[in-house]
Parts: sequence; C-alpha cells; structure tokens
Amino acid sequence: MLTPPQLLTIFGASGDLMRRKLGPALLQLARQGLLPDRFAVLGFGRTRMDDESFRNLITDTLQVSPTDEAWRWLRERLFYCQGGYGDEASMRRLGERINELDALWRLESNRLFYLATPPEVFDDLVIGLRESGLNKSSGWVRIVVEKPFGHDLDSARQLNQLLWTAFDEHAIFRIDHYLGKETVQNLLVLRFGNTIFEPLWNYRFVDHIQITVAESEGIGNRGQYYETAGALRDMVVNHLFQLLTLIAMEPPISLDADAVRDEKLRVLRSIRPFEPEEVDDHVVRGQYGAGTMGGRPVPAYRDEPYVAPDSTTETFVAMRLFVHNWRWEGVPFYLRTGKRLPRRVTEVHIQFRPVPFLLFPPETAGQLKPNLLTIRIQPDEGIILRVETKVLGMGMQVRSTPLDFYYADLGTKIPDAYERLLLDAMRGDQTLFMRADEVEAAWEIVTPILRHWKNSPAPDFPNYPAGTWGPEAATQLLAHDNRRWLTE
Ligand code: NDP
Ligand code: BG6
Repeated sequence: MLTPPQLLTIFGASGDLMRRKLGPALLQLARQGLLPDRFAVLGFGRTRMDDESFRNLITDTLQVSPTDEAWRWLRERLFYCQGGYGDEASMRRLGERINELDALWRLESNRLFYLATPPEVFDDLVIGLRESGLNKSSGWVRIVVEKPFGHDLDSARQLNQLLWTAFDEHAIFRIDHYLGKETVQNLLVLRFGNTIFEPLWNYRFVDHIQITVAESEGIGNRGQYYETAGALRDMVVNHLFQLLTLIAMEPPISLDADAVRDEKLRVLRSIRPFEPEEVDDHVVRGQYGAGTMGGRPVPAYRDEPYVAPDSTTETFVAMRLFVHNWRWEGVPFYLRTGKRLPRRVTEVHIQFRPVPFLLFPPETAGQLKPNLLTIRIQPDEGIILRVETKVLGMGMQVRSTPLDFYYADLGTKIPDAYERLLLDAMRGDQTLFMRADEVEAAWEIVTPILRHWKNSPAPDFPNYPAGTWGPEAATQLLAHDNRRWLTE
C-alpha cells in the first residue's frame, strides 16, 4: 500500500516523545522508502525555534551523520511553527504555515495532526483546530491522540464527545503503542494463522492465563505525571487490557479495523466491573520502597522528584479477572504490572490443564507438568511451548522440553512500535488504534477500582522493596487459587 502525500503536524514537537520515538520512527520509515516524496513534517509548540533550530534539535537527538542520505531527505522536509495551544492567533499562524507547505510540497491538502503534548492541552487543541477550521480540508484530515485517554470513565467520554465535534470517528487514531509491537500483532497470527491452538483456546483446555508487564525502571523524572496516574491508569487500562483482548477475543470475520475492534470490545464487555466490596479480594496495589537494583541502591517512590512524601499512588497492580462468555467462563486471567520489579519483561502465559488421565507410574506422573505456552512480548521476543518428553534411556522418566522460536534467530531488527503506528495513521488504517467504545469499556472496568481506592487509601505503602516482585499480597492472590506467578 502506498502512503499518500501529506503534512504531518506534531503538537508538542519540542518534547520527549518527538525526540525519543517519533523522530527515530520517521527516520526509519524514510530509510525504508515508506514515506511519500510529497511529504512534510511541521513541528508546533511554545518553545521558540525556527525551522533550522528544530532540524538541529532532531539531528542532535537522533545522533545521525549529516551525510546520512535518509536523514538529508527527511531533514529538508522538517519545519517548525511557534505558538500557543489553541489560541486564535496561533491557530491562524499555523493555518498559514500549513497552506504554504501544502502548496510548496503539493500535499493535496492531506493533513495528519498528532497530539504529542501532555493531555492537559488536548481539549484546547481540539477546540482550536475546530474553531480555526483546520479540521476540514479539500483532502483528508486525521488526528492522532496520545495516551492517557482521559483519567476515568467520565473524562474519557468527555474527550470522545469533544473529538467528535471536530472529527469523524474514522479520522481519530487513539494510540496504544503496545498494539504497534510486532510481538503483540503476532498474537493474531499465532491464534488465527494456526489450526492447532484455536480448538484448545477455551475453558475446556486452558487452566488460567497470566499477563505480566514488569519494568525495572522507576518513574524517573515523570513524577508530576505519574502522581496523577498510577499503574492502573498508566498501564492496566490500556496496555494490559489490549493484550488481554487480543488473547481472549473471538476470531474476527476479517482483518478490517472494525471487525477486529468489534471482537476486542466484546471481551471488555464480558468482564463484569467489581462491586466496591469485591475490589480488595481481586485487586492488589503496591508502591515501591527503597531497595537495590543490579547491586546499586535506588530510592523509594516517595523520594522520587515531584512525588509527595506521603503519596498513595500505586506503582504496582495485580488483579484477577474473569471473562464471562462461553469460551472463558471460570478461567482466571491474572494481570500484573509494576515499576522497579527485578527485570524488564512482558510475557503472556497460557497454562493448559493437566492431562485428564495419568497413564504413567506414580513416580513419573509426579514429574508430568501441564503444557504451557509462553508468548514473550519483550525482550527476547519469541514463543515457547512447553511439552513433556521422555528422558532417553530405560524406564519411563519424563521431563519438560521447550519448543521455542525467538525473533532474534531471524537476524533482523524488530521495528519500533511507533514506526508501524505512524505509518498506519498516515495510511488511514485504524486496526491498531483504539475505538471510542473500546476505550470507554476499558474505563468502565477500572473506574470502580479507582473509586474504591480513592475512598480507602492504601494504609501500608510502601509495601514492596524496589527490586522485588511486588507485595506479598500479589503472591497470595494466586496462592489462594493454588497457583503461582510464572514470570519471576
Ligand atoms: P513532554 O512533557 O515532553 O511534553 C511535550 C511538549 O508538550 C513539551 O515539550 C511542551 O512543548 C508541550 N507542552 C504543552 N503543554 C505542556 C504542559 N502542560 N507541560 C509540559 N509540556 C507541555 O511529554 P512527552 O513528549 O513525554 O509526551 C507527550 C504525550 O505522549 C503525552 O500525552 C504522553 O503521555 C504520551 N506518551 C509519551 C511517551 C514517551 O515516551 N515520552 C510514551 C507514550 C506516550 P512546548 O513547551 O514547546 O509547547
Ligand atoms: C508507557 C507508560 O505508556 O509505557 C510508561 O506511560 C511505561 O510508564 C511504558 O514505562 C512502557 O512501554 P514499553 O514499550 O517500554 O514497554
């Protein structure tokens, strides 16, 4: 598929996302020849810069040689417009710059706006675009909205309502960068490109499912944002729920964006939100205290910059959820995420049931483990299926053997999620973006938890030392069901 001519306008272009993710993604796309010749990027922000200093800022962060051909191609297409977010004069100036670039590069009035600012200014920007008429053109207009998408159900609904005053749903691209990860997309291929898994992918054969997104980093200098978010809003309602929906959904009737998103939505709607009195039985929250990581001491969350010394923000969540439908009734889905855990790893485990009848002698039967399918999302991306095999030699000893596939063995670099997502937005493919109803269904599940936690702040924070797998209560959550976390 060809990428049509267009102008990509990035609001907040002086920021971290532009430097760390969007800039490198654009360069990679340019390297692969995936950007159209008639293409330009217009950075926008309050920071005073002209085109040249914006280009220099991006050159510095990409650490690229000035003679690099793809970079030279991209560099001459980078422009900058200084202004405030949404005020009339700034929007007018932006409009003039857009028209000028449109004519210069013959961009056919196709416009992609990217909200790469903190969410505080999303509303002003959407209103500014609408009031200035920049949301309309003789070509197409689309908008990419970064996470977090609202901070609870009401605010997510309000943001959707506001976006619809300016853009059609088919023009709104809500990002969850986990969907752009190769290994996450591979979940679809694994499930629906193979015949062997699908017949087993249900309550009859699956004992339970675990999803762990563990991070070794703390919150660094993002304290201001994180204090208003916490792990539930920052990770669970988006990244973990997206993984959950891809694992639990029914086969879609096609790969069309809406066909896939319809099925994901059904999963979210099959999860019953907790009553306040159920929350503590199913959801564990944690906050890291001081500890050691890789042999060096690291501070407690409450001692990080911009964090209140008595903060009750959670940096860890573990929960047990049930998807109430014919496929999954009674199968627990255990979700876990946290900062300052021992290592960075994102893994999904599909734990199958034990064999129904023990054919082997008692001493062998004791060694027999149920099959386990592990999908390693990152790092060491791959798939590992644990099967039981006979130990060579006399007798009937058995042992677990992994059948594994690692992307690293292919010898090619895994593209960054933002490369894929940027390209899809440029091409108008919404499959890997969240639809309004999906976002709201996800907030419906977590909002009662947020409300309960607000009413009863955790009395025991910090409750896990940095460098450990979270609070003891998370271990007990599974121990209560005679299970244990498989990622450790
Ligand atoms: P930054 O804090 O770096 O902000 C980006 C730019 O937005 C700033 O350079 C600033 O530009 C402008 N801005 C407008 N209003 C504010 C404000 N109230 N406070 C601070 N800056 C403001 O954010 P990021 O680039 O890290 O993130 C941008 C968006 O992307 C956020 O919604 C974030 O949640 C999301 N995101 C970021 C990721 C990352 O890796 N950074 C990963 C996933 C999502 P100026 O002063 O020039 O106007
Ligand atoms: C972001 C969160 O959305 O995802 C961060 O705001 C988190 O807190 C990050 O660290 C994790 O992304 P990845 O791709 O590094 O797993």
